[in-house]
Amino acid sequence: MTKLICVVGVTGNQGGSVAQRFVQDSNYRVRGITRDPTSAAAQKLSAQGIEIVAANLDDVQTLIPAFAGANIIFSVTNYWEPFFRPDCRAKAEELGISCRKYAYNVEAQQGKNVVDAAAKTIDTLDENGFLASTLSHAGSCSKGKFTELYHFDAKADVFPGYVDEKYPNLAKKTSYIQTGYFTSSYKILPVAYLCKQPDESFQMSFPTFADVSVPHLNVNADMGNFVYAVSQMPPGKSYMAAGTECSWSEYIRLWGEATRLPAKYRQVTMEQYLEFVPDRALGEETGDMLAYTSDPGYDGGDETLLKADDIRKVRSLLPHETYY
Ligand SMILES: NC(=O)c1ccc[n+]([C@@H]2O[C@H](COP(=O)([O-])OP(=O)(O)OC[C@H]3O[C@@H](n4cnc5c(N)ncnc54)[C@H](OP(=O)(O)O)[C@@H]3O)[C@@H](O)[C@H]2O)c1
Repeated sequence: MTKLICVVGVTGNQGGSVAQRFVQDSNYRVRGITRDPTSAAAQKLSAQGIEIVAANLDDVQTLIPAFAGANIIFSVTNYWEPFFRPDCRAKAEELGISCRKYAYNVEAQQGKNVVDAAAKTIDTLDENGFLASTLSHAGSCSKGKFTELYHFDAKADVFPGYVDEKYPNLAKKTSYIQTGYFTSSYKILPVAYLCKQPDESFQMSFPTFADVSVPHLNVNADMGNFVYAVSQMPPGKSYMAAGTECSWSEYIRLWGEATRLPAKYRQVTMEQYLEFVPDRALGEETGDMLAYTSDPGYDGGDETLLKADDIRKVRSLLPHETYY
């Protein structure tokens, strides 16, 4: 009998990649969750044979039937939608809180809703059936230095915080997957990633040490492969999904080599960074992330996270080629 994987965020980068990987395996049927099954993205997935169901992460009652009968649930939450949406910015102002904190509240609540709904179908979940995308906890990993890195802590407070605290039995069936810097993120911050200088060269300007190693993920191509591989591992482990690791100075050096364009890295101070990022709150949120990446590190300095190579080592012990 085929197994059912329910994919949150199926029309997005992470969920879309996960759906595309599992749909290739005839042992699985894929159910994708979206707010709008009539959108062009949802219709395209539906035409591919993916079951599309309507549910909203803001409403746990819609998630419970959407997850019913799942053998695997892939969870992802999106900090940036409530961060950027003009109506959310207006609500934050009305509440007298920053848009960064407002988006934290929305994302953390959405994560809790996913967990509460997943817990309702715990009996149908595989031994390693709850696969949650997350990031490190900046507040605790930095020992209180970064208390406003909201898009990290909104995830980590729930995955694993809330799961462990509220649902120890679900925690036993869970894997946590931190994700590296998306290689597509230059589109969000072109001015910091690749700013054209008066002499026509390109400059990457971050408040991150030039030589600190950073995980990089081609999210659309690789997240699905990574999550698929994780689904075949034992539960209860934490991962860093990344295709490669290198410092930002090495990254831009390679970019220059590949494009044959002159490019260099410049470490800037937080004040300098905030001057050239157009949206102040975006500058603060991403600036904190880039500074946190220097110390204690993007992964919070957690050396126990499993990586692709660790999964490959296990695979080499398996009798058959089961993935990648
Ligand atoms: N950019 C980076 O370098 C980076 C690195 C690590 C982690 N991240 C994290 O990645 C996350 C975003 O993931 P992504 O890029 O895959 O997102 P994305 O491409 O923007 O897609 C967001 C997905 O979430 C769904 N969604 C949003 N709000 C929803 C709601 N209320 N109810 C139901 N579904 C909802 C959307 O579905 P519909 O619109 O169809 O409803 C869509 O499928 C962020 O939290 C970010 O912090 C980013």
